[in-house]
Order: sequence, then structure tokens, then C-alpha cells
Amino acid sequence: MSSKELNRRDFIKLTSAVTGGIMAAGLGIPIVGYLIDPALREDKAGKPVVVGNINDMTEIGKPYPFSFTITKVNGWERTASSYGGFIIRKSDDPKDLAVLSSRCTHLSCRVNWHEESKAFQCPCHDAKFDADGKVLDGPPPEPLGRFEFEVAEDGAITIIPVEVKEG
Ligand code: FES
Repeated sequence: MSSKELNRRDFIKLTSAVTGGIMAAGLGIPIVGYLIDPALREDKAGKPVVVGNINDMTEIGKPYPFSFTITKVNGWERTASSYGGFIIRKSDDPKDLAVLSSRCTHLSCRVNWHEESKAFQCPCHDAKFDADGKVLDGPPPEPLGRFEFEVAEDGAITIIPVEVKEG
């Protein structure tokens, strides 16, 4: 065997190793990225959400509706859920509010405000709640849930999107 043949073999080994390395990196980097991507995504669940501005809510006692969507990330699974509620000014004090959930406490249908009866009504089983969320009629076992909130200097209302029970 001559040294020229060895050099040719070494060259082929080297180019094969380099080519194989490039191909492995070309396939491996996207695969690793796919595998660790869910861990790098930000989960918005439980984070504060701006739902309106008190300066747009001039009428005391009127329920102002709001809604928002939260995407929960569980590994590779993303679930988008819609939430809603009503903001009610109780006085001229911009921080004197009730922030109610629109989720009926019976079987989770969405309640709507009916101006004529001055009540939240559930379309599923005809339940009624008063403007403070208390049950007036129907099968719901408890009042509408509430959201904790903050009112910023500029009037922005931020809630923590976790319903709290009254009492
Ligand atoms: S879901 Fe609202 S009354 Fe049944």
C-alpha cells in the first residue's frame, strides 16, 4: 500500500464524516427544536388580562360585557378557551366595581343581561341572577363567580382570569 492510497482513503473518510455530520445537523437541529419547543412556549393561563377601561363605562349599574381568550399549553397540545363577564360600576368611585363571570353556575352556559327584567338570564334552564350575581330563580346552586381586578391610573381594568366564589 502506498502513502498515496492511504491519503485517498483518509480523504474519503474525512469527506464522509463531514458530509454525515452536516446531514445529521440538518436533520437533528429541527428535531431537537421540535422536541423542546413546548417547554419554551409561554403559557398565558392565570396571567392578568386587560378587559376594558373605566372611562368607557359611564353608567352606574349598567353591566358592560367583556370577553377574552386564553390559550393553555400542555406539551404539544394547545387549547384555546373563551371567557366572558360583565363589569358593573357601583358608584362614582372608579374602583367600586363588580366584575362578574358570565358562566352560569349550574352547567356553565353563558348568561346574558336583560334590561327589561334587570337580571342576568341563562338560556339553558331559565335561571335568573340579579345585577350583583345572586341567584333569583332556577337551578344554579350559587351566585355568579367574580374576578379579582385592579384599576390603573389611566382607567385600564385588569383582572386575574380565575373565578372566585362569593363569600
Ligand atoms: S346552565 Fe344555566 S340554568 Fe342550567
